[in-house]
Amino acid sequence: MTKKIIAGNWKQNGTLKSSVRLTKSIISALDKKRCKHEIIIFPPSIYFLPIQDLITKKKIKLGSQNVSAYANGAFTGEISATMLRDLKVNYCLVGHSERRHVINETESILSHKVTRLLENNINIVYCIGETLKEYKAKKTKIILRQQIQRFIKSNENNLRIKPKRIILAYEPVWAIGTGLVPTIYELNKIFSFIRATLNKLDNRYSSIKILYGGSVTPDNASKLMETNHMDGLLIGGSSLISKKFIDICSTI
Ligand code: 13P
Repeated sequence: MTKKIIAGNWKQNGTLKSSVRLTKSIISALDKKRCKHEIIIFPPSIYFLPIQDLITKKKIKLGSQNVSAYANGAFTGEISATMLRDLKVNYCLVGHSERRHVINETESILSHKVTRLLENNINIVYCIGETLKEYKAKKTKIILRQQIQRFIKSNENNLRIKPKRIILAYEPVWAIGTGLVPTIYELNKIFSFIRATLNKLDNRYSSIKILYGGSVTPDNASKLMETNHMDGLLIGGSSLISKKFIDICSTI
C-alpha cells in the first residue's frame, strides 16, 4: 500500500479543550498503529502552542489555515509566515474556497501568500476547485487549468526551485460541507487532467502531490483513495470527530 496524506482542516471550530482532546485521540491511534498514512492537522492558530507541545516527536505535522500576504508591519490581526516558522508550522493552506469565496481573497493576494511561505520554507497546500455553477456549465477543466496556471505563473521561479514544497488540493466548492461527492469516474478524469496540466507546465512539477477534499467520510474514504493520481484527502467536518478521522486514517 502506498502511504497517502490525510489532512484535517478544523476550520473555525472547537475550543482549547476539544482541540487538545482531538489531538490526543489522534496521537493515541498513532501509538496503537491504527493510522496507516501521513497526518497533517490544521487547527485554529490560537491553539498551535499546546498542540505543538503534544505532537512534538510524533508523526503528525502541523498546518496553518492561513497566513498574511505581508512579511511584517502594521497589519492588525494578521499572522506572518515568519511567525508560523517560529512555531515550527510545517504546512499552510492557500486558496481554500472559503477564503476565495467568503473572504474574497484575489489571485494576487494568494500569490503574495505563496511567496511569503516559500521564503520561510513552509510547505503549501494550494486549493483549487470549481463552483456549482461552473460544474453545471461543464467548465471544471477550464477553471482548474486557469487556477493552476495562475498559481504557477505568479511564483514560477520560486516554484521551479521548490516543487517539493507544494501540494495541490482539488476541492470542488459544491462538494464542501454538502454531502455531495464527484463520482470516481469524474475524479479519475479530473486527477489525470490536473497531473497532465502540471506535467505540461514543467516536468519538475511531477513531484507535486494532489489531494481530494469535499464531504469525505469514513464510508467513502476507501473508494476515494482508489482514484488514479490521488495522493490523499483533505477533510473538513469528519476531521473534527476523532472516531471518524481515525477511521479514515486507518483506511487502506
Ligand atoms: P468537508 O469535508 O466538511 O466537506 O470540508 C472540506 C474542506 O473544506 C477541507 O478543506
